[in-house]
Amino acid sequence: MSSTTQIQALDVPSAIFQRRSIKNFKTDPISPELLKQLVELTVAAPSSYNLQDWQIILVQDEAQKAALAAASYNQQQIIQAPVTFVFIADTKASEKNLTPILEQGSATGAWNEGTVNYFKTAIPQFQTSLGDKQREYAIKDAIIAATHLVLAAESLGLSTCFMNGWVEEKVKEVIGAADNADLAIAVLVPVGYAAEPRLNPGRLPFSYNVSVDRIGNPYQG
Ligand SMILES: Cc1cc2nc3c(=O)[nH]c(=O)nc-3n(C[C@H](O)[C@H](O)[C@H](O)COP(=O)(O)O)c2cc1C
Repeated sequence: MSSTTQIQALDVPSAIFQRRSIKNFKTDPISPELLKQLVELTVAAPSSYNLQDWQIILVQDEAQKAALAAASYNQQQIIQAPVTFVFIADTKASEKNLTPILEQGSATGAWNEGTVNYFKTAIPQFQTSLGDKQREYAIKDAIIAATHLVLAAESLGLSTCFMNGWVEEKVKEVIGAADNADLAIAVLVPVGYAAEPRLNPGRLPFSYNVSVDRIGNPYQG
């Protein structure tokens, strides 16, 4: 970790249970060091074959925030929060990322020559075999990165809100990707300091949606 923070970071279980989706933010800025730390923790997320098949746009400019909010049914979190992370699934990332990823995997010693040679053909083959699921697979990776951001932010004293409430074509236009069919918007996450307390709306008992071995065999906890 190249940056440091003033506060004592919350441990992961505490961050998970304390996190709430915040609808009102203070306009207080996030320091550049803290923002960098958030970006580092976000891109530390795992991805299929380590493809890192996302594009992340940090929307901070006031006019850009206003345009993004307009593309998101005027949800005010985007205006109030100092930054909104736009997570984009890059369905064709494997084509441009493959060589540097293999080089890095080799240079770090994480992947031996056999692995690198295998991945050289296996990754393009796998991506092709996905067909129209390429978008779905890239979205999975982008959402995992967004989840890293949300928990990292909570741990470092910030708040967030995952957002699905936006019109994809409008968001793409705002971030300058209107003509790029290879990119799909995955999720928006405003990040900032909470201006409100928010209660946990609760979670269903495990019996609704956690099973053992087969669906319908409820986990009793
Ligand atoms: C993928 C996703 C999309 C969401 N989209 C929005 C949104 O557009 N606007 C909003 O105010 N909240 C949004 N939420 C927040 C949910 O309403 C919230 O997570 C849920 O009510 C549970 O509350 P909690 O996050 O505080 O536990 C979204 C949450 C997720 C996970």
